[in-house]
Amino acid sequence: ETRENVPQSYYLTTPIYYVNDVPHIGHAYTTLACDVLARFKRLDGFDVMFLTGTDEHGQKVAKSAEAAGKSPKDFCDEVSQKFRDLPNKMNFTNDDFVRTTEPRHYAACQEIWNRLVDEGFIYLDGYAGWYSVRDEAFYGEDELVEGEGGTRIAPSGAPVEWVEEPSYFFRLSQMEHRLLEHYEKNPDAILPESRRNEVLSFIRSGLRDLSVSRTSFNWGVPVPNDPDHIMYVWLDALTNYLTAVGYPDNENELYQRYWPADLHMVGKDIVRFHAVYWPAFLMAAGLAPPKRVFAHGWWTNEGGKISKSLGNIIDPLQLIDEYGLDQVRYFLMREVPFGRDGDFSKAAIVHRVNGDLANDFGNLAQRSLSIIAKNCGGEMPSPGPFIEDDTRLLRKVDGVLGDMRARFDRQEFHLGIAAIWDAVSDANSYFAAQEPWALKKTDPERMATVLYVTAEAIRGLAILAQPVMPDSCGRMLDQLGVAADARGFTALGESGRMASGTPLPKPEGVFPRHIVAEDNLSVGVDEKAAVSGKNEKNAG
Ligand code: MSP
Repeated sequence: ETRENVPQSYYLTTPIYYVNDVPHIGHAYTTLACDVLARFKRLDGFDVMFLTGTDEHGQKVAKSAEAAGKSPKDFCDEVSQKFRDLPNKMNFTNDDFVRTTEPRHYAACQEIWNRLVDEGFIYLDGYAGWYSVRDEAFYGEDELVEGEGGTRIAPSGAPVEWVEEPSYFFRLSQMEHRLLEHYEKNPDAILPESRRNEVLSFIRSGLRDLSVSRTSFNWGVPVPNDPDHIMYVWLDALTNYLTAVGYPDNENELYQRYWPADLHMVGKDIVRFHAVYWPAFLMAAGLAPPKRVFAHGWWTNEGGKISKSLGNIIDPLQLIDEYGLDQVRYFLMREVPFGRDGDFSKAAIVHRVNGDLANDFGNLAQRSLSIIAKNCGGEMPSPGPFIEDDTRLLRKVDGVLGDMRARFDRQEFHLGIAAIWDAVSDANSYFAAQEPWALKKTDPERMATVLYVTAEAIRGLAILAQPVMPDSCGRMLDQLGVAADARGFTALGESGRMASGTPLPKPEGVFPRHIVAEDNLSVGVDEKAAVSGKNEKNAG
């Protein structure tokens, strides 16, 4: 057996979501980005493991349960279910779902704790300092900023409280050098670059030992051999990435195949936990650190910060009802340069849905397939000899995969998708210039060629866009008569060229226009363009 026959593995994870909140656009966004990448890698021949889950311990969740008048476990079961329903509703293809209240997770947490103890990285002391329940984070006095009325708040804006209790500490201060060395050797281990710089300057400013256990409440994983303590919720939560690959059983197949993770996808607010604490814990325990942490930006709603108290939370399920699932998936991944903050607005999503999808891609497929249905007996036409215009378009489509790989490998999803749409635009120009509808009487062979080449271009583009819009592209490929097993990236280009004479089903539009009720959206065409331009400018 040659090495080339073994598919390369790719392990990617979302953060595990706190169950104090029901799923909103921010959660959907993080998981969607991972789903798009997981699907892309699978179509590209990788052996993918894609993980998500829920973070169920800690003071924040315990308090939410109490406020709801439920036991923590009942409360977690209930809210966690809403996260477990999300994959179904958003077509996410995660391979596993970890809950931190599962026995397998306790085993992993206690094992990593024991490893850290064995390696001399844990000592007992007392914590006296500031803690933010909302962030589940300890803060140094010097990190706090002044809030309203002279109160002290965390840099995130979260309130802090003074905590004094016995606590185990992790010798984070001893990991400074190893962390810096690791990031020097692996320049792409934190992306985007702005986040890498932020993390490096945090490490260089000096690391303090980290409190890793609590005694003032008990909703957490017990510390081995000292049941008065529970593990700090972030040490508990981060360990989920090991739980899912069967740790502590390092001999098992999942661990062997997938550890260390190729990518931890996170929001920019939690990059410190993933790019400082997590690799420090792992290296201290003798385990390999992740190959990359990517931190994406935050969404605002019509220009405003999204918050429960403002009542402007965006419910992903409501968006799907209004615009369609694939339309929402496309908008979220295309509109905002991935890594930057972005603004959600109705005008911007309508602009994408009606422009990029209905007009540019949908119309091209609908018009060309309708002409085939009418003029070619409902079969894939048989082309004559290709001219330069034909081969140029097909070469362009064939070249998109290379661009996408380069972009997706750096999580520049918006640019990978833009590469597809660049070719969509060429296909439209080709179709308009060749005027196949005018060729029926004058040159039927040339008509058949133009229609075949257009259909081939659409086949390639639909295969490439599957990770973003799996259902819609699947339906487009159905209409082209493309077999289910001929939709991976190896079928792109020459190797998968469609057979002439294949009977085709009746064409149906795949990307409908979104009709806007006047009172729902009182912006004119110019303003729409301006709105969608706003997120483009972020591309900087
Ligand atoms: N439980 C921790 C993660 C532990 S991972 C070992 C947590 N959970 S969370 O539910 O609060 O947030 C999960 C993710 O949602 C974060 O990556 C966060 O950045 C993302 N988002 C929350 N609101 C968001 C927006 N408004 N926009 C984009 N993403 C945001 O943190």
